[in-house]
Formats: sequence, structure tokens, C-alpha cells
Amino acid sequence: MLIRFAAVAAALLAAPMAFADDEIVGDIDRGVDAYDASCVECHARPERFMRDIEGDDEERAEWLDEFLVDHYAEDDQDRADIIAYLLDL
Ligand code: HEC
Repeated sequence: MLIRFAAVAAALLAAPMAFADDEIVGDIDRGVDAYDASCVECHARPERFMRDIEGDDEERAEWLDEFLVDHYAEDDQDRADIIAYLLDL
């Protein structure tokens, strides 16, 4: 599935966004909550593993998306939110 991440600036604009139905947009604030619920018990400091994930934001998002689907973030929306949060660190 194609997941596209809105830039933070775009997310801050209140204007309704015309995304196609099958596109899931990650939300940083929800990502904080989802990370707390699903990840923080084992990864207290996500900055550490994020340092080891190379590439630009798009490459890192793709890598995380493939890894996390089988690693405690099966839900597409939760995963997109968590990735938005992680890329914002
Ligand atoms: C029950 C403990 C546990 C939970 C919960 C957990 N992880 Fe992990 N995670 C690990 C362990 C152990 C590893 C290292 C082994 C591996 O790669 O599976 C790891 C590896 C990773 C890596 C790869 C790091 C690297 O450099 O290869 C990432 C990224 C990651 N976790 C993110 C997350 C995120 C995001 C969540 C929440 C959705 C999460 N983890 C939930 C235990 C956990």
C-alpha cells in the first residue's frame, strides 16, 4: 500500500486535504500516543534506532513501513502515525 506523508507544514494547515481514499496520512500527535502505547516499553529512546536508519525521509519511511508491519504496528493508520512521529524527531 502506498503511504504518503504530509509535510508538517501541510498538516498544520487547517484546510481540508484532498487525498485519495486509499492514502493514509500519518499524524504526528497521534503517533506520539501510538508510540507510547505500542513501542515505548521496549524502546524508551527512539532517537537511538532512528540514528541507524539511513536515507532521506521517504526512504526511511519506506524502510520503517516494511519493518513495522510485522513489528508491533500492524494497523496501517497507527503505523503511518508512528512513522510521522519518528521522522519528526
Ligand atoms: C516487546 C518489545 C518491543 C516492542 C513492543 C517494540 N520493539 Fe522494536 N525492537 C525490539 C527488539 C528486541 C529489536 C531488535 C531485534 C529486531 O530487529 O527485531 C527491535 C528492533 C526495532 C527496530 C530496528 C532497529 C534497527 O536498527 O534494526 C525498530 C525501528 C523498532 N524496533 C521500532 C519499534 C517501534 C516503532 C515499535 C512500536 C510500534 C516497536 N519497535 C515495538 C523490541 C520491541
